[in-house]
Amino acid sequence: MRSGATSRLVFLVLAVAINVAVALNVQQCPSGFELVRRGQGISESEARYVSDRRKKVLPAAFKTYLKNVQRTGVSLPKYVADILESKERLPTVGISTSGGGYRAALFGAGVVNALDGRNSSAVEKGTGGLLQTVTHLAALSGGSWFMTSLAQANFPTIQHLIFGDGHAGNFAGWNPEVDLFPSTATPTEQLLYASELLQELAVKAQHFPVSLGDVWGRALARHFTNGTDPVNFFANTTHGVDILFSDLLKLPTFNSHEQPVPIIVTDLVSEHINGSIFPGGYAIPLNTPMFEFNPFETGSYDYAVAAHTPTKYLGTTNKSVCVTGFDQAMFISGTSSNLFNEANVTVGRPLLTDFGSHTPPHRPPPSPLPPPTSRLSSIRPTRSQCGSTRVTTRIQFHGVAPKTFSDSGETMLTMCDGGEDGQVSPLQPMLVKDRNIDVIIEIDAVSVSSYSLLSVLSQWQNNDDGHGWALGSSLIATQERMKIFQRGLRAFPCVPTNQSGFISAGLLKRPTFFGCSPPSSLPHWPFGKYEPKHEGPLVVYIANGAPPRDGSAPVTNTSTQQTVYSGVEMQGMLGQAFDVATQGADLGLDLVDEEWGACLACAVVDRARAREGVRRSGVCERCFERYCWQG
Ligand SMILES: *[C@@H]1O[C@H](CO)[C@@H](O)[C@H](O)[C@H]1NC(C)=O
Ligand SMILES: *[C@@H]1O[C@H](CO)[C@@H](O)[C@H](O)[C@H]1NC(C)=O
Ligand SMILES: *[C@@H]1O[C@H](CO)[C@@H](O)[C@H](O)[C@H]1NC(C)=O
Ligand SMILES: *[C@@H]1O[C@H](CO)[C@@H](O)[C@H](O)[C@H]1NC(C)=O
Ligand SMILES: *[C@@H]1O[C@H](CO)[C@@H](O)[C@H](O)[C@H]1NC(C)=O
Ligand SMILES: *[C@@H]1O[C@H](CO)[C@@H](O)[C@H](O)[C@H]1NC(C)=O
Ligand SMILES: *[C@@H]1O[C@H](CO)[C@@H](O)[C@H](O)[C@H]1NC(C)=O
Ligand SMILES: *[C@@H]1O[C@H](CO)[C@@H](O)[C@H](O)[C@H]1NC(C)=O
Repeated sequence: MRSGATSRLVFLVLAVAINVAVALNVQQCPSGFELVRRGQGISESEARYVSDRRKKVLPAAFKTYLKNVQRTGVSLPKYVADILESKERLPTVGISTSGGGYRAALFGAGVVNALDGRNSSAVEKGTGGLLQTVTHLAALSGGSWFMTSLAQANFPTIQHLIFGDGHAGNFAGWNPEVDLFPSTATPTEQLLYASELLQELAVKAQHFPVSLGDVWGRALARHFTNGTDPVNFFANTTHGVDILFSDLLKLPTFNSHEQPVPIIVTDLVSEHINGSIFPGGYAIPLNTPMFEFNPFETGSYDYAVAAHTPTKYLGTTNKSVCVTGFDQAMFISGTSSNLFNEANVTVGRPLLTDFGSHTPPHRPPPSPLPPPTSRLSSIRPTRSQCGSTRVTTRIQFHGVAPKTFSDSGETMLTMCDGGEDGQVSPLQPMLVKDRNIDVIIEIDAVSVSSYSLLSVLSQWQNNDDGHGWALGSSLIATQERMKIFQRGLRAFPCVPTNQSGFISAGLLKRPTFFGCSPPSSLPHWPFGKYEPKHEGPLVVYIANGAPPRDGSAPVTNTSTQQTVYSGVEMQGMLGQAFDVATQGADLGLDLVDEEWGACLACAVVDRARAREGVRRSGVCERCFERYCWQG
């Protein structure tokens, strides 16, 4: 297998000269190295991780969660406890958290906090503890900042993640007082900042095309990964440059299988796809292959591609010479949030011209960085479509699936923000068959304020969107995409076909369950165990969709373009997101549903219940009447 040339290759370190640069190593591949794995199944390493987690962590985690639900005093049908206390029949829970810039990062964090068994208020509400049972946590764009930050910080509580825990040397929080595009620094600081960002990419640039997406990743790293605090923000230190996505597996909480598998979604930018843009998407047609990065593998589960490569060896093009160090965590999260293809950034214009999730740029930034234009021009990639910048990731899927994969003939794949096809929530990873997800907690903090939306679909025109609220658009997009890409994946439940459907049924104002109906027909199922063939997961939809019920001023609907936050503002957002996730429907009694914690547990066990052929009963029956969308 090995060529003569490469067997002579000695271990070569490229990154010794500049110690702050992204370290790339080129070395002989390990024996048995598999560059491309085909198929729509998951990797052995992921399967092993999840199976270990199910054995070692989940039985106790589900027991604790059950206790927390029971503590609310609502009496649960016996089957709920039976399932949650069983070892073999435990449900499989996934969380998807949407894009939408800092707003989505904070709202997603707030909902996750409300499910965290370490937060005593969440425990009191009967929702705490569910986070500890989750097997997969998928995110994209702004949501991936939160998710990556949480994973790399070794899974601290949300309060410690966002605000730091006060211990020097630990993750210091998100530094939100410094702009993502620092325009508040002094000119000297700005210049130093810009040259550091570029310098950190110098070694990579010798071997790979480097784009604005890389620079963006380095800027994000100063907010969301270890190594930066308010004091050293502009100092010339490493700023987490060596934190790799595949290396997350070495952290203590991964070693102990306490963390869910993190997944980041990106869209392919393909010059070979002709398709229409979903209203609410930007630049990327809905029939474009999508990709996911997890610490084990990177690839696409779409049948048209069905190919995966080890994340640790991203950048590798053959089985003899292996590149490591390409999979920098914030580069991947930066790719997932790379909207620069929308911004028409050209060399004559400043680097960080605009930023807006799925909102075509329409305002000049207050005071952009001094443009390091000459240096940028030398590292810009050359291919161009839908704008002039892109993240170029060399993944050797060259020649893979030539009949169905649009970009099989390419040696470089270009990726951008995972929400640009209109699916601003990473739902598809939850439909991969081998993952067997029973219930998806879907956190939607997308803001559909794009003018293109308003003009395209007239029925959306009279809604009060443009105010930073979610309108269900990502679910609609996934429903549409599954018409194209259903093959080999599990079914996505029916959701309304347009935003009016979400609004008129009130689905944005309270949690909603989608996909209730097949199992609810169970009472009429005459043949013992109910074994649906292509049954998909149940979706528990939690939207950032309405102002607080108590009439207080809303703070969670900030603009996607807001890139600076105060501590008070963030705490306020976490508080309101906590309420959204813990209050349930408005039943008029203190504006909350005291049974919501129990209802969520009913949803969590519902697929397991159906598998066992048990009927829904007691509070669960009421809950499903209250929370199911029967479209
Ligand atoms: C729990 O979450 C709430 C709401 O964000 C927060 O006020 C509280 O400090 C958290 N408690 C802990 C122990 O993290
Ligand atoms: C980041 O810091 C936390 C402590 O706050 C530590 O537990 C974790 O291991 C660090 N992560 C990495 C990737 O170094
Ligand atoms: C940052 O420090 C490195 C050495 O640690 C040095 O080579 C480099 O020039 C410094 N960068 C800037 C922008 O001062
Ligand atoms: C896409 O459509 C354009 C215009 O209809 C056509 O010229 C082009 O060949 C098509 N490309 C592909 C890859 O089908
Ligand atoms: C394998 O990849 C390396 C680095 O990209 C390259 O230098 C080498 O020539 C390739 N070997 C073969 C056999 O293609
Ligand atoms: C992109 O920017 C360039 C330079 O500012 C301008 O000439 C061009 O018209 C812009 N293109 C679009 C589609 O806005
Ligand atoms: C938040 O929502 C309220 C009520 O819909 C609206 O008045 C306000 O302008 C929104 N804030 C932002 C920043 O859009
Ligand atoms: C919007 O969705 C609702 C509910 O799903 C449906 O009744 C209605 O026909 C839809 N309107 C359009 C224009 O598709």
